[in-house]
Amino acid sequence: MDIMVIGGGGREHAVVKALKKSPRVNKIYALPGNGGMREAITVDIGAKDLNKIVEFALSHKIDYAVVTPDDPLVLGLVDSLTEAGIPCFGPDKKAAIIEGSKAFAKELMNKYGIPTAKYRVFSDRNKAVSYLKEQTYPVVVKADGLALGKGVIIAATEKEAVAAVDSMMQDRVFGDSGKSVVIEEFLSGPEVSVLAFTDGKTVKPMVSSMDHKRAKDGDKGLNTGGMGTIAPNPYYTEEIAKRCMNSIFLPTVRAMEKEGRTFKGCLYFGLMLTKDGPKVIEYNCRFGDPETQVVLPLMETDLLDAMIATTNGTLDKTEIRFKQQAACCVIMASDGYPLSYEKGFEINCPFSDGVYFAGVKKDGDKLLTSGGRVLGVTATAETLEKAIKSAYEKVEKVSFKNAYYRKDIGKKALRAKEK
Ligand code: AMP
Ligand code: GLY
Repeated sequence: MDIMVIGGGGREHAVVKALKKSPRVNKIYALPGNGGMREAITVDIGAKDLNKIVEFALSHKIDYAVVTPDDPLVLGLVDSLTEAGIPCFGPDKKAAIIEGSKAFAKELMNKYGIPTAKYRVFSDRNKAVSYLKEQTYPVVVKADGLALGKGVIIAATEKEAVAAVDSMMQDRVFGDSGKSVVIEEFLSGPEVSVLAFTDGKTVKPMVSSMDHKRAKDGDKGLNTGGMGTIAPNPYYTEEIAKRCMNSIFLPTVRAMEKEGRTFKGCLYFGLMLTKDGPKVIEYNCRFGDPETQVVLPLMETDLLDAMIATTNGTLDKTEIRFKQQAACCVIMASDGYPLSYEKGFEINCPFSDGVYFAGVKKDGDKLLTSGGRVLGVTATAETLEKAIKSAYEKVEKVSFKNAYYRKDIGKKALRAKEK
């Protein structure tokens, strides 16, 4: 089969590498891909260019399309491709709203009794501000729409919360995504990411993982797209997994079906394990980045088989297996990320196993840095401790000017294991 993967980050590189192992896969095209994706034919069409993507798929007789980034999913790329007769992995526009609108997600959880932080939605700035007067702090202020993972502000005081509301609703720092805001109760507890395959009825969770979102060691510094991940997440015990399946995963998928928004693809549950039980922090309508870079290297089942089962509604008959091992991914970024940074530096990476390129471009035979998160290096091993050690040994062998990475990926997870 000839496959098309939409997107160009480290997550897409991990998807491409996993699909490449499938005996049924012939060519893989990546739109736009990136200069490091040697396993795919990269095509210079952007992930939001819906019409060009459909044209390309038809002219190249694509057998199956994999849509991974949030933007094209929320814009309805799966609908356009399906209408053109091209089977796809990913939710349609009606279902992708679970990530596209935080207000929708919160209302869904409220209606169907799915545990989440208490909240209110506001589309009027003054009403939001007067509500903030009555709150206990901290509170969490979230832009309703997509905001590159940056639309969440934890406000320690009323003043900070009002500033957050104003930046979103008046200054529109996230554009129309800030037309409405969600103000919610601050929760605490360990965070767990669970990606799950679903065909709209059956839910098959993948191995759990832990993201490290802050830029600096010790979870300090600014929020980023993710500086590293480990899997499995030691906080996510079998007992908690069962509880999540019954109180969160299945109820969510059933709720979406009842609402006429059947979700097919990968549903991402961002969970917090609070003292009152697991609660949903956020839903994503897609694979996480960089969670995918630790989850897929542990997957034993053919990824293409699993994906096609979600499209065809045969997930109940498809076994999804993971290795009983651990994985660690360390993101190597350009120093200064997530703010300003220099780019255009040559990357020396003497191996490709477990390397997932993101912000890179080709220049003749060379690879140059071209973004904030440049690449991720993943290692797998029998234990988490060994996987972390091995990932950092690999990182030591990769070099480019101004490279920056966190030194403590997985440390918190190791401490949790010792308890
Ligand atoms: P998100 O972009 O929705 O993943 O949120 C970014 C981060 O903000 C999450 O990973 C949490 O660490 C934090 N966060 C979001 N909502 C809450 C909440 N209600 N209470 C505490 N922390 C939160
Ligand atoms: N790692 C979080 C996300 O993909 O949104």
